[in-house]
Amino acid sequence: MNINIPTHLSAEAQDLVSSLLDTRERELEVLAGLTEAQMLGLRDKTIEPPIWEMGHVGWFQEHWILRRLDQADPIWPRAYRLYDSFNIPNAERWELAFPTEPETLDYITGVLSCAVQRLAGRELSPQEIYFYRLAINHEDMHSETMVHIRQTLGYTQPAIAKTRPAPPVIDTDFEPHDVEIPGGAFMLGATPDMPFVLDNEKWAHPIEVAPFRISATPVTNAQYRAFVEAGGYQERSLWSDEGWAWRQAARVEQPVFWQRAADHSWRVHWFDQTRPLEPFLPMMHVNYFEASAFCAWAGRRLPTEAEWELAAAGEPTADGRGFKPGKRVYPWGSGFPTPATANLDSATLGPIDVRALPDGDSAFGCRQMIGNVWEWTADTFDAYPGFEIDPYKEYSAPSFGQQKVLRGGCWVTRSRVIRNTWRNFYTPDRNNIFAGFRTCAG
Ligand code: AVJ
Ligand code: FE
Repeated sequence: MNINIPTHLSAEAQDLVSSLLDTRERELEVLAGLTEAQMLGLRDKTIEPPIWEMGHVGWFQEHWILRRLDQADPIWPRAYRLYDSFNIPNAERWELAFPTEPETLDYITGVLSCAVQRLAGRELSPQEIYFYRLAINHEDMHSETMVHIRQTLGYTQPAIAKTRPAPPVIDTDFEPHDVEIPGGAFMLGATPDMPFVLDNEKWAHPIEVAPFRISATPVTNAQYRAFVEAGGYQERSLWSDEGWAWRQAARVEQPVFWQRAADHSWRVHWFDQTRPLEPFLPMMHVNYFEASAFCAWAGRRLPTEAEWELAAAGEPTADGRGFKPGKRVYPWGSGFPTPATANLDSATLGPIDVRALPDGDSAFGCRQMIGNVWEWTADTFDAYPGFEIDPYKEYSAPSFGQQKVLRGGCWVTRSRVIRNTWRNFYTPDRNNIFAGFRTCAG
């Protein structure tokens, strides 16, 4: 990547440039090491061709920064016929006449270079800063998408330069347990003091929450294994009608990446390899239907979004009977995530033991609510009261009422993106994202 960095940049612009370069470096890392055939990949409604992912992140920058802010002419008009996610349906994305990988790289590097050059020597308007942050967040999200595409297709795990291979310290005295959370009127959602928010998080509004008990940790492989071995996938009464229909149509008898070895132990597909099932890793790669069936079997339930956010962001009052009006940005407070508080950014190259990272506990004692695995919630993704659509209209609104909310980010998620109020959303059948779940007492 060859980008000239202008010398006259305001502090704000410098910050944007370093994030633009950082997210691009990661995007190229997660795309690297694939053959030409793998760059096209396999047709599947839950993924995109990697070569499409590569062009799309550049097109998105061009669309919002060069064209929306400056009304520039398209750099390369063909990009709109290839990478415009609003107008090119998923099913057609394997039929497109893609340029080669070097040509695609030239296009996205050219766009990035223009986006960086136009920051030189002047103050930026709030609107400009907003669209840069949107493009950075978007590329951050796509770099995670590309990692789950590689897992889905059984490709090699991408090499990431900034890793932290030392295993985290595990608190072996820490037993999975429930914590009690007091009820009250909770302000669900983002507040206007936050620097960058998407429309679906706006704005904080009161929700009455009854007292509840939630697990301090996500469900582990060992806990989930007990459900599988008890015949949970075969027991109709544990599944919703929709969940059972999915299970039958997809012919699913066990978690999608699990495989039984000859000696009856379980192994788990991990990119192009398999590894033994580790009991204290969080259960990952289950969809909403599977998470719900586990809950029915265990006498538990998924938290609502409001419960999840309260457990992550709330602080108990001194008498422990309520929670304070303010909310924390992260479970541990306001400090940007570090390796001691959250497993993010692919730093550890995989999920870690649910007992690790006590420094990241929420005020109520919930562990790893940010990072490690995404957590399914009970709620359908919908607009908060007073919703106003952002310029990127296609981001949230088309998914309202259609998908389920996940919270917290996973080991791949970039720390720039994630915080307590951030809402992710996928259809309830998606089992190829890095998602597990945490349960509440039924
Ligand atoms: C919010 C992660 C579900 O990947 O479909 C990227 C993010 N939207 N480009 C997705 C997104 C448009 C979105 N998720
Ligand atoms: Fe996108």
